[in-house]
Amino acid sequence: MREKIAALLQEVEQFPIQNKEELEAFRIRFLGTKNILKDLFSGLKDVAPEDKKAVGGLINDLKNKAQEKFDAFNEKNESTESTDLGIDFSRPGEEKKLGSIHPLSLVTAEIIDIFKRIGFIVADGPEIEDDWHNFTALNTPEEHPARDMQDTFFIQQNPDVLLRTQTSSVQIRYMEKQKPPIRVLTPGRVYRNEAISARAHCFFHQIEGLYVAEKVSFADLKQTLDFFAKELFGESAKIRMRPSFFPFTEPSAEVDVSCSLCGGKGCNVCKYAGWLEILGCGMVDPNVLKNCGIDPEKYTGFAFGMGVERIAQLKYRVKDLRLYSENDVRFLEQFKTV
Ligand code: DAH
Repeated sequence: MREKIAALLQEVEQFPIQNKEELEAFRIRFLGTKNILKDLFSGLKDVAPEDKKAVGGLINDLKNKAQEKFDAFNEKNESTESTDLGIDFSRPGEEKKLGSIHPLSLVTAEIIDIFKRIGFIVADGPEIEDDWHNFTALNTPEEHPARDMQDTFFIQQNPDVLLRTQTSSVQIRYMEKQKPPIRVLTPGRVYRNEAISARAHCFFHQIEGLYVAEKVSFADLKQTLDFFAKELFGESAKIRMRPSFFPFTEPSAEVDVSCSLCGGKGCNVCKYAGWLEILGCGMVDPNVLKNCGIDPEKYTGFAFGMGVERIAQLKYRVKDLRLYSENDVRFLEQFKTV
């Protein structure tokens, strides 16, 4: 009996278990309902009474060994099975990358938001324009020297079809269709035939503003732009107006804002002037109103136009205009909004 037990113990120890099939064979032989140890237990009755306890103990040990070996392989097998699923529940989750908003879109949205608060609505116009809307109706007829201020891209050798050089064209389109009072803001892309450099580009963005109603005065223009500068650059921002010329406004002015970096004391951003130019503006020329069928005796208006790149440059200290259109992620991802 003892020899039989010893032989089976050896068999348990040496039984190869590498896969599920072998594990199952082991289970059937040593632990199943008709396992081999059952014969040993039933053979106990033939063992001498004084030996029974010891032999019984040995069979129990054998049974425990078999169970232990089975459990050990079974556990291992289960854990390999779960890795087979390809899921590692302890791995940290993958971060969802959020995109960022283009600085020009951010600035445009902010400017629109400021003017919406004082009753302006947004209007749109085509980028491919005709001569009338881009120049002639804006009091800039053919041969007018002011046309040279804006190098124009013409399409198909046809001098009447061009890429708009200014969003002022949308003023005309809007006034042709709407009766005063008009309070409109027109953001959009414009094109000029300029060599691309850090300071110039062949396309850029403008936002145009137009207010036409009865008794609109230069004081209204100044108040509006003062409000705008304070909202955009902070309560301490000041504006100043310098006389200028635009064919579609009379009188015309250029507007500077106090340098937000040095507070007007002078630094290298404002080139020690304390002021930064941000836009052009003026009272709508009576000829322009007439061209759009609006009676200049009854109505007056003001207009202004600014470059979005310029404002973004001042807000975010962007030194090179080309960065806006190069799609460099290292530049763009700095403008995360969330
Ligand atoms: N259209 C002008 C430009 O592109 C900017 C401008 C100046 C627009 C004065 C206006 C204005 O409406 O009143 O240079």
